[in-house]
Amino acid sequence: MEKIIEVQHLSKSFGNHEVLRDIDFSVNKGEVVSIIGSSGSGKSTLLRCINLLEKPSSGQIIYKGENILDDKHDTRAYRTKLGMVFQQFNLFNNHDVLGNCIVGQMKVLKRSKEEAEKVAMKYLKVVGMDKYINAKPKQLSGGQKQRVAIARALSMEPDVMLFDEPTSALDPEMVGEVLKVMKELAESGLTMLVVTHEMGFAREVSDRVVFMDKGVIVEEGTPEQIFNNPTQERTREFLKRTLKI
Ligand SMILES: Nc1ncnc2c1ncn2[C@@H]1O[C@H](COP(=O)(O)OP(=O)(O)O)[C@@H](O)[C@H]1O
Ligand SMILES: [Mg+2]
Repeated sequence: MEKIIEVQHLSKSFGNHEVLRDIDFSVNKGEVVSIIGSSGSGKSTLLRCINLLEKPSSGQIIYKGENILDDKHDTRAYRTKLGMVFQQFNLFNNHDVLGNCIVGQMKVLKRSKEEAEKVAMKYLKVVGMDKYINAKPKQLSGGQKQRVAIARALSMEPDVMLFDEPTSALDPEMVGEVLKVMKELAESGLTMLVVTHEMGFAREVSDRVVFMDKGVIVEEGTPEQIFNNPTQERTREFLKRTLKI
């Protein structure tokens, strides 16, 4: 199995608040890894460290065998290899749907407008938003916005997609359409690291589930292990609380 991202002994503090402590895990090519855990456990900070929106206080992040925290490493090139989808969509409101999906390709990947549009259309079809290319974000529902955000990230043709609670800001009736797209992407072999509150998704779609609590990985395993046979009391507590709601 080819490791794409390997996090070793990663810690992160804000002032003297240690938010992540000695995190070790990896993501293999083609794998879907879900990160679950209560709010405040450090899940977003971990994703933000992986894509270098935050600088880890210590530890290593190895991407395809290279230490990306090394000063000599090309951070910009690395970041283009990661697609990021946020809870709050973060679309450019002044651009239409197609515009949102081509600006990064043109600016960062230096693709021509024609090429960028071709690639964007391919991924807008994948998420079922190709009929909306001229719509502005404010004309779209939350579920549609999130699908455009996914298409925009895919248009950069990243090696790994990182999702940070992509359905948490959505009205309940729109959660399904976004999860369906994510499930299709998972089945297509895309490498995905997904922070989620959707236990159904974590259980049914992931290859591996990582449970975090208070800045540490408490346990990780297959969905079967984590949901049916958790070994740690903290995992059992969390699942009991979460699955009851
Ligand atoms: N930029 C920051 N400055 C200070 N504290 C932060 C910052 N970002 C996150 N934190 C703190 O780190 C902890 C983990 O936050 P976060 O990674 O957002 O957790 P989660 O995504 O699991 O809800 C929280 O206590 C949060 O207040
Ligand atoms: Mg978070």
